[in-house]
Amino acid sequence: MIILAIETSCDETALALIEAKGELENPEFKILGTSLFSQIKIHEQYGGVFPMLAKREHAKNLVPLLKKLWEETELPKGEKIEWNEETKQEIEKILDREKELLEDFLKHIVQDERPKIDAIAVTEGPGLEPALWVGINFAKALSHLWNVPVIPVNHMAGHIYSVLAHDKINPNGTSQETSLKFPALALLISGGHTELVLINNWEEYKVIGATRDDAVGEAFDKVARLLGLPYPGGPQISKLAESFRASFPNARSSESFPLPRPMIDSNDYDFSFAGLKTAVLYTTKKIPDLTEDIKKQIACEFENAATEVLVFKTKKAIEEFLPKTLIIGGGVVANNHIRAEFSKMVKEFPELSFFIPETNMATDNAVMISIAGYIKYFSNKKEAESSLSLRAKGNLSL
Ligand code: KG4
Ligand code: ZN
Repeated sequence: MIILAIETSCDETALALIEAKGELENPEFKILGTSLFSQIKIHEQYGGVFPMLAKREHAKNLVPLLKKLWEETELPKGEKIEWNEETKQEIEKILDREKELLEDFLKHIVQDERPKIDAIAVTEGPGLEPALWVGINFAKALSHLWNVPVIPVNHMAGHIYSVLAHDKINPNGTSQETSLKFPALALLISGGHTELVLINNWEEYKVIGATRDDAVGEAFDKVARLLGLPYPGGPQISKLAESFRASFPNARSSESFPLPRPMIDSNDYDFSFAGLKTAVLYTTKKIPDLTEDIKKQIACEFENAATEVLVFKTKKAIEEFLPKTLIIGGGVVANNHIRAEFSKMVKEFPELSFFIPETNMATDNAVMISIAGYIKYFSNKKEAESSLSLRAKGNLSL
């Protein structure tokens, strides 16, 4: 089955084309092509993502990205599209609020032949609603033009299944796992979410813990801003922290500026990162001259504090729920220290299969949406929903 995926929930406009095969017990995914435009440079000046700007950029970039994807993938073409007044009116109706996208669509897409794809997977939520709508309306218009079904995908399910995008890594990195075994436990850490999810079977999710305030990625971004670093802060903090560890291999980051490990002793699986950010704020306020070395030490202590809480709570959940598989996913999993600490922790559980996405699959992308789409399509064993009823769901949960 060939799936085109569209992801526009935040600041990445991403498309992917995959070929998915096999039963869910042993699925095979071949990435035929990807095309992604990151809006980071555009949002940088605002220190965060500005929703209406994100929407405008998605609308501007979707058609060029699709053209690029078609050019770069050798997809067999189907028959020529029958273009008539009725189809045109319907597409004008679907893209009524995205004038620029409509113009591009009518100019470039309708002249093409119908590509041989079987479904379109699109992120329906959670995320920024104006941004989500652009991707959804684009999916609806393509679905109407090509007469293919749309599979609405939960972005967080995308982060979970991002681990199937390529190699599956076991704790020792020796043999390769081929499938997810249930029950599974997933820790999802991104700019908008921090949650521990029990997965009893495909598409059966139970959130057992979540952040009570800021998401961990959000905390990385806010702490970066306090240290005068650009958006997104995660990679910047990570760089400083690594540099601290390299320069002072024997130093403890907590020596001069200790930070709390929020809720580490709470008797549940919830998280809180707002206090950690505030602690950094108070720390920086007390320092008259925030030198590069001090910034490095604070970044390292912050990264250690956040990682310790994440690892501790995940370990506790493994001990209580005895999952067969641990998955970690979300943009923050691009962090090297977090990757290393989780890899270390899972060694204590030799029976546990550990799945971690490749670094480029951890941050938002459309490959993960295509895989989650296949899994949803397959496990529901039903036709995809009628695309016209599809809506953006900013607060969609798993
Ligand atoms: O999943 P994602 O790409 O977008 C959302 O769905 O939110 O996650 C983005 C978040 C941002 O907060 C970013 O700072 C963080 O992931 N992030 C990192 C790293 N790379 C991205 N955090 C820590 N270390 C990194 N290397
Ligand atoms: Zn994400």
